[in-house]
Amino acid sequence: MPCCRTIPLFLAVLWFAAGYDCQAQQRGAIATKAMVVTAHPEASRVGREILRNGGNAADAMVAVHFALAVVYPNAGNIGGGGFMIWRSMKGECSALDFREKAPRRAWRDMFLDSAGNPVPSLSLEGALAAGVPGSVDGMIQAHKRYGTMKWRTLLEPAIALAQRGFPITAKQAADLNEFHSRLAKWNGTEQALTARSVWHQGDTLRQPDLAATLIRIRNNGRNGFYAGETARLIETAMKQHNGLIDKTDLAQYSSRWRTPLHGTYRNHTVISMPPPSSGGVALLQLLSMWERRATKDCTFHSADAVHLMVECERRVYADRAKWLGDPDAVRVPVRGLLHPAYCESRTYPIRMNRATPSSTVTFGNAIEFDTMPQQQPNRIDKMRRESEQTTHYSIVDGSGNAVSVTTTLNASYGSKLVVAGAGFLLNNEMDDFSAKPGSPNMYGLLGSEANAVAPGKRMLSSMTPTVVEKDGALKMVVGTPGGGTIITSVFQTILNVLDFGMTMQQAVEAKRFHHQWLPDWIYTEENSLDSATMLELSKRGHTFKQREPIGRVDAILVLPDGRLEAGADPRGDDTAAGLD
Ligand code: DON
Repeated sequence: MPCCRTIPLFLAVLWFAAGYDCQAQQRGAIATKAMVVTAHPEASRVGREILRNGGNAADAMVAVHFALAVVYPNAGNIGGGGFMIWRSMKGECSALDFREKAPRRAWRDMFLDSAGNPVPSLSLEGALAAGVPGSVDGMIQAHKRYGTMKWRTLLEPAIALAQRGFPITAKQAADLNEFHSRLAKWNGTEQALTARSVWHQGDTLRQPDLAATLIRIRNNGRNGFYAGETARLIETAMKQHNGLIDKTDLAQYSSRWRTPLHGTYRNHTVISMPPPSSGGVALLQLLSMWERRATKDCTFHSADAVHLMVECERRVYADRAKWLGDPDAVRVPVRGLLHPAYCESRTYPIRMNRATPSSTVTFGNAIEFDTMPQQQPNRIDKMRRESEQTTHYSIVDGSGNAVSVTTTLNASYGSKLVVAGAGFLLNNEMDDFSAKPGSPNMYGLLGSEANAVAPGKRMLSSMTPTVVEKDGALKMVVGTPGGGTIITSVFQTILNVLDFGMTMQQAVEAKRFHHQWLPDWIYTEENSLDSATMLELSKRGHTFKQREPIGRVDAILVLPDGRLEAGADPRGDDTAAGLD
């Protein structure tokens, strides 16, 4: 491990930027005009064609979203929900919450057995696991406000992909094979996704039922999904599988425009998603805490850097578990959690030479800071009103409008239940609620009363679609899937560029680690930390658990000369499509 005390900081930055991984590509795809980065090459191509034909970032977003529902069915969706951060070419920002909602007939203890213990299978698979989907309404709202092309035009590429089919990638074939028995259990073997018991790379996946649903959405807009034939098919599936969603839930669903969170980090402005996602609050807390304590010794993946990040993360995730939930249903002390004095109070118990056992870390008194006047009003938590307004995709159009969208069915293939006759999967987002305070969800995340199930409530999310500005201009568009690891992956990606001098592609490729308060260990990707660093961290009291790859970050960086650099994550089939 080089000792950076003896070399100037800028040399240290260059050293780590160049030397952290000799295999990494130096720069991602570059384009002069516009860029689309998504989880699938077909969806990226669709987005680029919309931009080439004169559409803006919102038009490309709608076309990409529906295309992903076809070509990336494990996470792309019309049966799920998500969040969008929009930044116009003039710098006006908005946040769209198209998160799923609990059905009206949901109740607090619906995932507990008669002894009061959680029954995870109920919130993970089948009809009861599904929240009322938000994606279609979200796309309609975004298109109404920002779109320029005809709605119909934006649905056509997805319809064509569903009707004609597309060749699946090697990763998709492996994925469909892995999930075959669970998908077949709920849907039989007559559905498009289960039609073959063994899939190979290059096999064509055709989805005629999904095409028919997309045609109804193309022709009838909102009513093509939340009413009429699609609503009837959803209600039928619910009745057949003992679910709760009915036509009234569908008719009443609406996405919500929210004020995005604004924070500052080293002269940059970071714009991210407010509750019901915990993503923006947690990301801004992490950046604030890190900025207060990081020293020149905190170089990329050094023991000091990992230690400090982990210490910040365990405190932020303890706050998340206590305070975060749906702001329409519970009081979430966002101002308090982001108050500079509060972040300061959470940062300074950290000792650099010793890990704090998570058993001794608890949430902070954010309520006390919630009403406190701001001592440094522009530093963090500057709520800016815009002038009027689990997969991630990032888009920047030729005029400089940017969109950052994370959307999900929750688990891969969501609830595993396809709406028969409508050809799309329902989410299992109900598992993001806290079934019982103190009991972890599928990501091991804990929650409290703030995130208890209630009728019409939105479940807490970690999704963190984010935009970064420098000097009033767009600098970065970033986000990722990954459940509870989303927040720490976005945090690391931003630091990789702003602190460690990496290119966008290097920042995305760099190995990741994750800590979420409980369980009290550092999750690592294979080979993410070198043995000397791990030894030093062990001496400070940290423990490790290696796991599968963390996240699939898709991001765009605006270079100093105005060109756009993509970061497309090689952990998946993620692909950049640029326009010159
Ligand atoms: O909203 C959330 O935080 C989760 N439902 C996201 C799930 C996710 O990222 C799964 N992808 N790996």
